Order: sequence, then structure tokens, then C-alpha cells
Amino acid sequence: MATPLLAQPAAGSELLGVPVSQRNGVLEVLSMRRDPFSFAERRTEQYGDVFAMNALGVRVVTAHGAEAASEILMNRDRAFVNGPAWSYFIGPFFNRGIMLLDFDEHRHHRHIMQQAFSPNVLKGYFAEMQPVIADRVAAFPVGQVKLFDEFKDLTLDVALEIFLGIELEKSEADRLNKAFIETVRAGVALVRKPVPGGRWWKGLRSRKILEEFFYQHIEAKRAAQTPDLFSVLCHAESDDGHRFTDEDVVNHMIFVLMAAHDTSTITMTQMAYRMAEHPKWQARARAQSMELDPTLGYDDLAGMTVLDDVMKESLRMCPPVPAQPRMAVKDTEVQGYFVPKGTMVVIPQMANHRDPRFYRNPDAFDPERFSPERAEDKGHRMAWTPFGGGVHKCIGLYFAGMEIKTILHNLLLDYEWSVPAGYRLPMDYSALPVPKDGLPVTMVRRS
Ligand code: HEM
Repeated sequence: MATPLLAQPAAGSELLGVPVSQRNGVLEVLSMRRDPFSFAERRTEQYGDVFAMNALGVRVVTAHGAEAASEILMNRDRAFVNGPAWSYFIGPFFNRGIMLLDFDEHRHHRHIMQQAFSPNVLKGYFAEMQPVIADRVAAFPVGQVKLFDEFKDLTLDVALEIFLGIELEKSEADRLNKAFIETVRAGVALVRKPVPGGRWWKGLRSRKILEEFFYQHIEAKRAAQTPDLFSVLCHAESDDGHRFTDEDVVNHMIFVLMAAHDTSTITMTQMAYRMAEHPKWQARARAQSMELDPTLGYDDLAGMTVLDDVMKESLRMCPPVPAQPRMAVKDTEVQGYFVPKGTMVVIPQMANHRDPRFYRNPDAFDPERFSPERAEDKGHRMAWTPFGGGVHKCIGLYFAGMEIKTILHNLLLDYEWSVPAGYRLPMDYSALPVPKDGLPVTMVRRS
């Protein structure tokens, strides 16, 4: 029997119809979560690069490959939007976050927000962040340590310090952390209704707590300029004199906290894992860090070329945002396939990052593929897209590099860490890719 199509292209059109997998949607999602790489391989073998399936109650078209990513992300005929696509997953909790805005409204907000990520402002964040990180990393435990958990706590502390710039009582910081974590977790709830006690319900309750917190502090933040993101967003002004309203600042703060947190934690976890699995890369990165002044300066970050390549390769093998959804707002096409208005389309960048057309031996950890001589990531402008592409490309990518490299630099100077021979990090791909076991390593303090 012929595979059913998502929609029939118009008579006389040269476009192809998107084939729809007839497998049970829940089983498909479970199979994808178990092993996204072999899932992608099997399905593309059967259907080609563009196919549809039922997932979490919606029909989703997955469009594999750098060319498809380019068509969708560059969005030349303005057929794709973020709002309704991302809202499906995180909407009520990250309502009106910048990633959920589109076209003119998005451009307007991005223009103002850009001020909070300019090089000079980043230097200000760095000055605040560097001593906090050095102290916190120096106090890491030794022996058997779950590094993912340590990174998660540390990035939350950095976020509170650098993003909020508010001295909090421990109980208040804990309350805020809990609200933040519950808000993030709600997006991947299986029961997507506010059933009391459930993830969705907790997410909505926690979003309220975060909103109340930010509204409570906004007047003071507007009154004085301080080097934290909260204050910078309150004062940021575009060239044409526009500023964010109080409501905008609150929505953006909640969204940026989320966007910055798990993504950086996941990247560091992957880097630490790979450097434990391949000690020669740990040694190389450490040698470079040891050449720098122990009190790291902002300009030193550019010299950490080994950590740069380890970070790029870790982001290639395990991009923290594994896929990017978009919604077609008019009939359009992707790679010669007809995509009707109202279709959810997903770019599977985790699978795209293993494309043998660009990457030699793509399942192997090999940071040298980013060397100027090989530059495998440059084979196509969408071959390496951990930070996305097009107008929504991650606004915090330099912030992320700065935080991640500062933390890893301190870790390399203070400790050596290892995993047992043959250890493989067990991954949970049900939402963002996190280790099931917290990445247990043996940490030894360097004398
Ligand atoms: C390694 C860490 C990070 C990764 C892998 C990452 C990845 C991404 C990706 C893939 C997108 C685009 C999503 C889409 O187009 O659908 C994005 C957007 C965004 N990221 Fe990041 N991110 C990281 C860190 C950060 C940090 C540290 C911040 C803030 C301090 C941040 C703030 C944002 C914001 C505000 C957007 C939305 C931009 C827009 O819609 O205009 N991210 N990020």
C-alpha cells in the first residue's frame, strides 16, 4: 500500500507530497527519545529527508539536512513562525519570551535586547561572574562527584548573581530556584492540562511566583543602573529611543533565565564527559589554561582555542536544543515537498550534526575537525547550528561561551577528573538531552 501523504499538492504542481508514517505516535515518540540517531537513520532511509508523523497530539513534519534547515531558518518567503510552534511546548510558561515573537514585533524587541549582549555589557557581566565562578569551583567536592548536578547548581547561582543582581536570603533564593525549575519542567509534561499537583499545574503556579518576584523589584531596578541583566533590560534603549515596558522586562527575564540555564549546563556536562573519556584533550586544555594568568581576564577567553574546539565538538555531538520547531502560516515548500498552512515543521539539528556529507566519521569525538585546515563545520552554513540560525539565532551565544569557558578553565586548574574505562554517558532525550546518571566522575584536587 502506498504511504499516505500529509496533503496532496495542487494539480499540475511539481511539488511532492510529504509521506506520513502510520506508526503509533506515542511509540514513535518513545522510540525517538530512546535513540534519536538511529531513529533518524531508519526513518530517513524509509521515507527520505522529509516525512511526517504524529507526535504529542500534533502532526509534525521533520525536515532533515542542512539545505532544509537553511530554507526554514532563513525563511525568505516569511512562511514560518516561531510563536505558535514554540508555544505548543513552552507557551504558557514562557509567554511572550523573545523567541516566541515573530516578524516586526520580534525585530523590535531583539533590537532593544541586543543592547544587553553588546561586547561592553558582556565585559561587565564577566567582571561580576569571574570571581563568583572561581570561588564556587574551588569549593567543588572531590571523590565521587556528579558533575551535572554541580554544574546545574553553579549556573543557577551565576544566573541569580549576574542576571538578577539582588541579594537574596537563602530561603528566597531556594523558593525562586524551585519556581524556576518547575517552570522549565512543565514544558515537557506528558499531561498537558493543569491537573492539581501535576507538572503543568506546578509550572503555571511557578510562573506566577517568578512574575511576582520581578514586578516587585522592577521599580528599584529602573531607579539605578547596575551591571546585571535585569537592570540592563530595564535601561536598554534602541537607537530610535525605544525601551521595554515593565511587562516586557518581566517576560524577557523569565525567558532568558530559562534559555541560559539548561543549555549551558548541558554543554559543560558534555565537555567534561568528553574530556574524561579522552584525557588527552583534558591535558591539552589544561596546558593552555595554565599558560594564562590565574585571574582570568575577558581578553584571555579568546586564547582558549582548545576549549573552543572541545566546546564546538560537544555542541555538535549533543546540541542542548536538539530540534527547532516552526509553524507554516501559509502554504509553502521545503526541499520540493508541499507543506500546507498550519503544519508544524521541525529541524532536527541533533541528527543534522551527524551528517556524513559534512562530518568525517560523525559519531566520533574529534575536536580537530574544527581546525582551520579541516573546518568541517563550514561545509554548509547550516552544517553546525547548535545556536540556531536566521533572525532567532541565539542572542546569548557569546555569553554562553564566556560562562562555559570560565567554569571549565577553573575546573581544569583546580582538578583532574576521570570516568572508568569503557564508561558511556547514559542519556535521557525526553526533553533537553541530559545524563540519566548525573555524570559521576572521580575528582582529584590538583596540588
Ligand atoms: C550553549 C548554550 C546555548 C545554546 C546551545 C543555545 C541555543 C539556542 C538556540 C538553538 C536558539 C534558537 C531557537 C530557535 O530559533 O528556535 C536560541 C535562542 C535564544 N537564546 Fe540561546 N542557547 C544557549 C545559551 C544562551 C544563553 C546563555 C542565553 C542568555 C544569556 C541565551 C538566550 C537566548 C535567547 C534570548 C534566544 C531567543 C533569540 C530570539 O528569538 O531572537 N541562550 N538559543
